[in-house]
Amino acid sequence: MLEIVKHPNDVLRRKAEPLRKPNISARHLLDEMAEAMYAAHGVGLAANQVGVARRLVVIDVGNGLLRLINPEIVRRDEELVEGVEGCLSIPGLQGKVMRHKTVQMKATLPNGRTEWFDAEGLFAVAIQHEIDHLDGVLFIDRATEVWEIEDEPDEDEAADGAASAEPSPDDGGEDAEAR
Ligand code: NI
Repeated sequence: MLEIVKHPNDVLRRKAEPLRKPNISARHLLDEMAEAMYAAHGVGLAANQVGVARRLVVIDVGNGLLRLINPEIVRRDEELVEGVEGCLSIPGLQGKVMRHKTVQMKATLPNGRTEWFDAEGLFAVAIQHEIDHLDGVLFIDRATEVWEIEDEPDEDEAADGAASAEPSPDDGGEDAEAR
């Protein structure tokens, strides 16, 4: 099982490099990242978080696993919404973060196809949180307020891109099926 790198490890501050095209090692790493994400009850994980500065992300906000290569936000709603986030690399902290309400993302899938995703709710938050990781940005950089949590987060909150209050898992991510 891959170990999740914890803040303040330098790799979390590196800008990850794009892949030219999907290859076997990238697909293998995405599978291992998914395993680590599920084991930690997260809804997203970026390659930086397993010590690899490449633009690879896994997300599962409850609608199935997405394995994304070179994900990129191509459109952002101007409207911002506030949510509560945590991060698997920053255990014990949560914060209030403003995010774009909806985003459109373009990414390459492991089969080499390019796909566009329209995201809102938790899916939109997870995309923004994970792509931030690829750029060396952490939620604590953006948070308007950060606090300590006493216990390990529940499965349905605070786990990398997840929002414990809103948006709820129910109002986002339908588009995650479009993989
Ligand atoms: Ni995170």
